[in-house]
Amino acid sequence: MTIILGLESSCDETAVALVRDDGHVIAHKLATQEAHHAPYGGVVPEIAARAHAEALMPLVDAVFREADMTLADVDAIAATAGPGLIGGVMVGLVSGKALAHAAGKRLIAINHLEGHALSPRLVDPELEFPYLLLLVSGGHCQLLRVEGVGRYRRLATTIDDAAGEAFDKTAKMLGLGYPGGPEVEKAARRGDPKAVPLPRPLLGSAEPHFSFAGLKSAVLRAQESGKYGTDDIAASFTQAVIDCLIDRTRGALAGGGPVSALVVAGGVAANIGIRGALADLAARHDVPFVAPPLWLCTDNGAMIAWAGIERFRSGLTDDMEVAARPRWPLDPDAEKVRGAGIKA
Ligand code: KG4
Ligand code: ZN
Repeated sequence: MTIILGLESSCDETAVALVRDDGHVIAHKLATQEAHHAPYGGVVPEIAARAHAEALMPLVDAVFREADMTLADVDAIAATAGPGLIGGVMVGLVSGKALAHAAGKRLIAINHLEGHALSPRLVDPELEFPYLLLLVSGGHCQLLRVEGVGRYRRLATTIDDAAGEAFDKTAKMLGLGYPGGPEVEKAARRGDPKAVPLPRPLLGSAEPHFSFAGLKSAVLRAQESGKYGTDDIAASFTQAVIDCLIDRTRGALAGGGPVSALVVAGGVAANIGIRGALADLAARHDVPFVAPPLWLCTDNGAMIAWAGIERFRSGLTDDMEVAARPRWPLDPDAEKVRGAGIKA
């Protein structure tokens, strides 16, 4: 029985979990920094790093207390080593190194995106490689063919904004709170998705990628026109995002090679409308649809601990020299796409 401690600190959640190799989450804790960043309408890196430094070790203590375990009971320590805000990543990775060193345990440096990519296997042990993954978060919007642990082929990425970024910016333009995704979803529930004519960038295009910048500008114009209510703009924006995600994912299902399932992960996967549309698409293509539970879609420690278990099983551990990486693409062979290089 392998038990791994996972540490996550790459964005605005400090999260810690203890996970067993049969998929049992022994304990998990999370401290969100939402209140710290809300006044600025986005994550402030300096504030994030300080908040991670304050929150991390108390969370580690709390997780061990709840599990009635000590560091001696774990087999290895997995810490996010990138991509993300470098200050926060360093807090988590250096703490992971210190704990591993003190307890004489192995360290596993985790790519945050691999955490999201493998998280569905934590709850669905039957899920086999290869599967098609739509990874939609605040920093990323990618279609990946997950071929094995550490083996990812990127089929598509965004040429400008990530899907979650589009939700966050739309929320800001509409005067809704931060983080934007859940607020836009709430407003959209009261609105009419057909009320505002908005573009669907790259819909039907031969290139496989995503684009949301034009949609964001159109939302701003609709808002400034004074012709539409907030709820209708939120609903129409969400529908436009859904149409784009479905169109691009349909292309990857049709042309990306056979897969065992369509899987969605990342914070935007918490959106009920997006999940529903993807479930319908999978049904039409006769493949199972897998979506992790909501708490596992947004950043958390369990997905990092689980990626640690997958890597540990495959003999993939790291030494103490491993460095934090602000950019770290899952598929190093993927071609560079306009603008997308900034993200990972
Ligand atoms: O994966 P995640 O927790 O952090 C990153 O690695 O980026 O994703 C956060 C993103 C944010 O942009 C947030 O607005 C978005 O996920 N998000 C949502 C919803 N919940 C979170 N977007 C749409 N609908 C939601 N319900
Ligand atoms: Zn994430």
